[in-house]
Amino acid sequence: MERPQPDSMPQDLSEALKEATKEVHVQAENAAFMNYFQKGQVTRKGFKLVMASLYHIYVALEEEIERNKENPVYAPLYFPEELHRRAALERDMAFWYGPRWEDAIPYTQATRRYVRRLHEVGRGRGLRGPHAYTRYLGDLSGGQVLKKIAQKALDLPSSGEGVDFFTFPNVASATKFKQLYRSRMNTLEMTPEVRQRVIEEAKAAFLLNIQLFEELQELLGQDAEDQSPSQAPGLHAALTETPRGKPQPNLLSQAPLLRWVLTLSFVVATVAVGLYVM
Ligand code: HEM
Repeated sequence: MERPQPDSMPQDLSEALKEATKEVHVQAENAAFMNYFQKGQVTRKGFKLVMASLYHIYVALEEEIERNKENPVYAPLYFPEELHRRAALERDMAFWYGPRWEDAIPYTQATRRYVRRLHEVGRGRGLRGPHAYTRYLGDLSGGQVLKKIAQKALDLPSSGEGVDFFTFPNVASATKFKQLYRSRMNTLEMTPEVRQRVIEEAKAAFLLNIQLFEELQELLGQDAEDQSPSQAPGLHAALTETPRGKPQPNLLSQAPLLRWVLTLSFVVATVAVGLYVM
């Protein structure tokens, strides 16, 4: 009996990529940071962090895209007017961090690792495509849902300020544009070895995003392992911010002096009552 072929991979690169990244996509969606986000439990602090990381990532990605725009292994995917995010992210940075945002924005370890990889593949051969695919097609898909969630959770103006990154004014229909992008990917000519490397790099790109989410979650101090997201607001009251950005401190846990004064008053009152009774 004939065994199923191990390389029953779809012929079209777009199909092969979708298939190969299915598992890591689920992992990305289920990363604690994304889980909180999807439930509308994104805070200003968390949103500012992820947006700053995206700024660094897109600066590197688009720098490498510009460097390779005439390279036949990338040229069919070159859509600067429709896709490029740097200018939008600069506006978002100014919104979230103020006019001196360039000095103010964080640059985390996982972001640096991602940026390093983008420059490595940008100077190598043929691997910009999978990074562009992973980010831009993601932004045109789940990204559109995240935009609406962020606007609601963070009480942002419906005019789109603060979430410019998620807005693609030159893409009339995300669905149609994604179809065009996929068909362009399918015109790229490559050897089976290069095709395999492209697929592996797309998975690596997803993993870099997952590692970023894990790092950001850690920075936010929310240990997702032993708490379900639905418990987050209560359990993490000292860390979360209100939609307007005002902290909601637990006064007693945040002010040891107050706790100490209350305890002392209680002891003094008890002694006084004791003396009075005697
Ligand atoms: C809350 C998290 C996310 C949600 C809800 C989400 C949702 C979706 C949905 C519904 C699609 C299918 C769209 C379609 O078939 O046209 C999609 C596609 C895609 N997503 Fe996500 N996504 C999330 C996170 C991510 C992340 C973190 C990445 C990578 C950085 C990503 C990358 C992609 C890519 C590359 C595609 C296109 C797949 C293809 O058609 O080849 N997604 N996403």
